[in-house]
Amino acid sequence: MTISPPSDMQDRLHSLFRNSFDVAPGLMTRAPGRVNLIGEHTDYNDGFVLPAAISRQTMVAIKPRDDARIRIIAGDLDSARAEFAIDRPITPDPDAHWTNYIRGMAALLQAEGLDILGADIAIVGDMPQGAGLSSSAALENAVGLALAAIAGQPDIDRTLLAKIGQQTEHEFAGCQCGIMDQLVSARAEQDHALLIDCRSLDATPISLGDDLAIMIVHSGITRGLVAGEYNSRRAECEAAARHFGVRALRDLDLGTLNAEALELDPQVFRRARHVVTEIARTHYAAEALAMGDLELLGALMAESHHSMRDDFEISLPAIDGLVELLATAIGAQGGARMTGGGFGGAVVALLPHDMVTFVQRQIESSYRTPKGDAPMIMVENPCAGASIITL
Ligand code: GLA
Repeated sequence: MTISPPSDMQDRLHSLFRNSFDVAPGLMTRAPGRVNLIGEHTDYNDGFVLPAAISRQTMVAIKPRDDARIRIIAGDLDSARAEFAIDRPITPDPDAHWTNYIRGMAALLQAEGLDILGADIAIVGDMPQGAGLSSSAALENAVGLALAAIAGQPDIDRTLLAKIGQQTEHEFAGCQCGIMDQLVSARAEQDHALLIDCRSLDATPISLGDDLAIMIVHSGITRGLVAGEYNSRRAECEAAARHFGVRALRDLDLGTLNAEALELDPQVFRRARHVVTEIARTHYAAEALAMGDLELLGALMAESHHSMRDDFEISLPAIDGLVELLATAIGAQGGARMTGGGFGGAVVALLPHDMVTFVQRQIESSYRTPKGDAPMIMVENPCAGASIITL
């Protein structure tokens, strides 16, 4: 599907491309960031997640070259430039980490058998840095779709695109992430969250209805260098699955887990308890959302946050405070929780549209970022996944 992005961003990208490469781009792509409503750290345990794509996005302009080089300019990184060849093995560049998402997509599309072309590429975006809203997944999908399109495959399967993005994280960026971010950024539907089965990769769109708003509050605590914590959580989950002889924690029930509590390392037990209970909460939340049961949704979001705080240990006191402020302001008409990988970034709230102004004022007057500012607040409606923009 082709949708119209904010035209000022498209104009900015067009000028950046023209000024950098002295020609107009051949085509543009866009891919959205995401907010996860519930189902945290369940994706790499073959569980369920319930994210939505947001209007904050990454846009890419591209034009094929007649040699085997990829040249890139990144508009949001002080117009940083990079260049690499595609007719020899493409490897990660430890000195220019931001290029690894592009290198990875190029290398892994080739590995899939796509005959990618040399190209000039310009990139812009409006995703807040360090908010944990998946700017890297948006970049991977936008670049991957652009490279596939100029190689004659504009209809590349969106699930394949997402899998290549995930592989890029694993092999080029050092994060053993699950599939959630890339998949929702590639396959999301307008006005819907996606209930994703991370084993089968089936995705069921769940309408948000007309009354419900998604509010995202960036705590101002920047997520950075958290790949180590992420990878160690994943290893603990895999250790728990091995202990029970199951393929993944999705295949474990709470009774079986509890019965073995004393046999397991206490930390591994708590990690597994988070995952097993969070998968169940995600199912209930999808039902509550479909039925418009905001009170139940709020209760599930609160439980999810407590489980991330106490069992998975990925929250921070300032984030807990922000979640509490939101939950108190919203009362029984929705809820709030930290969203994403953890250790800072954004908090998500679900609430009726007519409460947005009140809740926003409450948060602006009572929460301060570490720098002492009022927080950045985004009110979102779910957007569609990655697409090509006709020029
Ligand atoms: C990051 C990862 C996802 C997922 C979340 C936590 O965003 O990229 O795969 O594991 O953390 O739910």
